[in-house]
Amino acid sequence: MYKDIDTADRQFFLTLLATEHVMNDAESLAHYAHDYTEDLHFEPQLVLRPESVEQVQNIMAYCHQHHIAVTPRAAGTGLSGGALPVHGGILLSVERMNRIIEIDENNLQATIEPGVINQVLRNEVESKGLFYPPDPASKGSCMMGGNVAENSGGPKAVKYGVTKDYILNLEVVLPTGELIWTGANVLKNSTGYNLTQLFVGSEGTLGIITKIVVRLIPLPKHDLLMLVPFASAEKACEAVAAVFKAGITPSAMEFMERDAIDFTMKYIQTSMVIKDHIKAHLLIEVDGNYEDVLMQDCEKISEIMYAFDCDDVLFAQSSAEKANLWKLRRSVGEAVKSHSIYKEEDTVVPRAHLPVLLRGVKSIGEKYGFKSVCYGHAGDGNLHVNIIKDNLSDEEWNKKLPLGIREIFELCVSLRGTISGEHGIGYVQKSYMDIAFNKIEIELQKNIKTVFDPHHILNPGKMFL
Ligand code: LAC
Ligand code: ZN
Repeated sequence: MYKDIDTADRQFFLTLLATEHVMNDAESLAHYAHDYTEDLHFEPQLVLRPESVEQVQNIMAYCHQHHIAVTPRAAGTGLSGGALPVHGGILLSVERMNRIIEIDENNLQATIEPGVINQVLRNEVESKGLFYPPDPASKGSCMMGGNVAENSGGPKAVKYGVTKDYILNLEVVLPTGELIWTGANVLKNSTGYNLTQLFVGSEGTLGIITKIVVRLIPLPKHDLLMLVPFASAEKACEAVAAVFKAGITPSAMEFMERDAIDFTMKYIQTSMVIKDHIKAHLLIEVDGNYEDVLMQDCEKISEIMYAFDCDDVLFAQSSAEKANLWKLRRSVGEAVKSHSIYKEEDTVVPRAHLPVLLRGVKSIGEKYGFKSVCYGHAGDGNLHVNIIKDNLSDEEWNKKLPLGIREIFELCVSLRGTISGEHGIGYVQKSYMDIAFNKIEIELQKNIKTVFDPHHILNPGKMFL
């Protein structure tokens, strides 16, 4: 269906890019064959690393003309296989397009290229007293192009929103090679369809993002962090909604099951004393400009936690303690990955339904005979369910797992939630899209894809079956 890349194609790309950015050596192909999604590998035929918009345009125009599959990639830290070149062809990496073009302190905006690392952007704006809140677990290595493509979230989303809430305008190279801007650098915009938001979360299927205009906010001056242990994981989940109902919006409200913490302490070689009967923790952060107000919020939150039978609430006493707790939380995903073959689901429901979701996940696990480690952004109702293979036979794993996942997703949708909160559909969840959308809704989305990419060359094999 797609044209294989031959010497003539390679010769053409060598007229656009220096030899070291047109790669087909075994090591490079192996490197770009995987992202962070499970243990999946798909080798591209050629890796291209453009550094200018014009180069991206020329590459896309050529691939459009010759029906060559192109998979865009930023840092490759995604968890749904969005950057896997499942049809071979070209792997187009934007990693060299990594300039912060402008930080506009008067308008609280920044214009950046897609290869800028999330943490590099946050450091740069923080040095000017500004804040870019979305903070995926991989913020130290993930790139902004990927964040926009997947509409990434992270712990801060509960108070500040996800990537979509910070994207004002995008420069995009269409699959045909044409160049567009999706909107304007404004905070209000009622002009035409919202192309900007159509591209956010489009998982590299509609165009290659080459410039991103983000909204910034003033950096909060203080934060406080507390770790709350519970003897019952369900009680921990029940306590979550009560905090918001009491009028407090924490800047993070994370949930970790006991196993998540145990695996992670081993993985990052740190120790913390956790009483035997503790089954889950909430990690709760508040931030703002006035420490005394934050103290009052924490007192109120503690009161609520004790009403849900928590154990002794622990306050981080120093920046180092805060950093350690965050390191622990951010390492859970990788720790579980290193423990066993696993499958990560990114369930999301309205926040107050979290206890029902957790209960459901556990009973579905019992029915199909698998164990899950749950953690995630409880304040957003966004529960990462890591199903681990442990001692299951390959046959059980391959046969029963899709049935169990299907049931978990059906539960999410029945609770008015959906099948991915922040990791995307990509390659690994596309067979479940029929749970989230009916035929008409899927058809509409496929038609949109065709308008942007008539030859379906860009990131083929993603999002839809
Ligand atoms: C996290 C990633 C896996 O929350 O989304 O750790
Ligand atoms: Zn997450």
